[in-house]
Amino acid sequence: MFSAPHLVPRRLFSSQICCNIPSSISDKIGRGLLLRANHPLNTVKNLISSHLNSIESFKVEDNLHPKVSTLQCFDDLLIPKDHVSRKPSDTFYFDSNQVLRTHTSAHQSQFLSAGISSFLVFGDCYRRDAIDSTHYPVFHQVEGVKVFASGQNLSSAQVLDHLKSTLEGLIRFGIFKDPELKIRWVDAYFPFTNPSLEMEVWYQGEWLEVLGCGVIQPEIIQRHYPDKNAIGWAFGIGLERIAMRLFNIPDIRLFWSEDPRFLSQFTNSEIVQFQPFSKFPACFKDISFWTSNESVFEENDFYSIIRDIGGDLVESVEMVDDFKHPKTGRQSYCFRINYRSMERSLLNSEIDDLQFRIREKVSEDLHLELR
Ligand code: DAH
Repeated sequence: MFSAPHLVPRRLFSSQICCNIPSSISDKIGRGLLLRANHPLNTVKNLISSHLNSIESFKVEDNLHPKVSTLQCFDDLLIPKDHVSRKPSDTFYFDSNQVLRTHTSAHQSQFLSAGISSFLVFGDCYRRDAIDSTHYPVFHQVEGVKVFASGQNLSSAQVLDHLKSTLEGLIRFGIFKDPELKIRWVDAYFPFTNPSLEMEVWYQGEWLEVLGCGVIQPEIIQRHYPDKNAIGWAFGIGLERIAMRLFNIPDIRLFWSEDPRFLSQFTNSEIVQFQPFSKFPACFKDISFWTSNESVFEENDFYSIIRDIGGDLVESVEMVDDFKHPKTGRQSYCFRINYRSMERSLLNSEIDDLQFRIREKVSEDLHLELR
C-alpha cells in the first residue's frame, strides 16, 4: 500500500465520507481468529511473540478493537492527507473520522504516548482489495516497536543494524526454524520510517516479501513519546502470508473456515503441512459492461459488491477483457467470477441467483450498462 508515494486529487476527501462497511465485513469483527487455540494464525502469533520475548520483554496486545480514528491510522503516522491509502475505495470508513484499521501500525501512537518502549500489537486489519487466493478484505498483522532511550546515544545506523539482526533471527529461528534460510533486504518507502526496508526470503523457489520495517521518523517520537530525543525501530508483518507458507495453506479463505476437516488438522500448536481435502467443482460466470461517462469506475467498489453478495463462495475475480471503443471512447470491461465452495458442491441455480443479484446491484450502484 505504501510502495510509492502516490497521490490522489484532494477533492476525493473534501466531501463527507459515509459508512462503506458491508455486513460481510462487519460480521468478521470479533471472530477472534488470533485468540483461537491451535488456529494457524494463533500459532504464528505465538511463534513471533515467544521468540521476541525470549530476547527481551515486549508488551503484547492481541485484542484491541479494529475501529480506530483516521488520526491513529494515518495522521499520527505522517501519512499525507492525499495519500491513496486513505481513499474510501481502499479503506472501510465508519464516518469521516473513523475507520477499520488498515494496518496495526495504527496503534503506534497510543503505545508511544503511554511511554511503552517495546511492544507487539497483533490484530485483524481491513482493506478493500482484489479477490483471489491471497487477498481477502480481512487479514492479520503484527506491529513491533522498540525505542532506545536518548541517553544511549545510538545512531540511526546502529538502530537499523539492531532491527535487521532482530528480524533475521525472528524469521530464521523463531518462525521458519531454518538457520540456512536465504534472506535479502530491499529498499522501501513508508511515510512513518526512514530508512525503510523490506525483507524477502527465498522460499520454495521464489523471493517472498515477508515484512516492512525501518527506523521510526523522529517526528513521530517527538510528537508522542515522553523522551523526545529517543530513537527507535518498527516493523509490520502480515500473518496470513507467513502462515500460508508455513502450513502450506493454498487459499486465504481457509483461515475463516469452520470446517472440521480444516480445523482438526491443527493441534498442539504444531507446524504441520495442510492436507487438502478434495476440492469441490468450480464454476465461472462472466459479466461484461460499459462504464458510465459520468462517474469513475473503481474496481474495488465492484469487488466489494461481489464479495458482499457472493461471500466466500467467490474464489477469484479476474479481468478478462478491457476494451475502449475507438469511435465513442466508451470503456467496456469483462470480468470472470469464479465460484467455488470450500465445503460443498454448489447448485447451478444458486450460482445463477448470485450472478443475477450481482448484475443487478453493480449496474444500479455503479451506473454500469450491462452487455
Ligand atoms: N504498516 C505497513 C503496512 O501495512 C507495514 C509496516 C511497514 C509497518 C514498515 C512498520 C514499518 O512498522 O516500519 O503495509
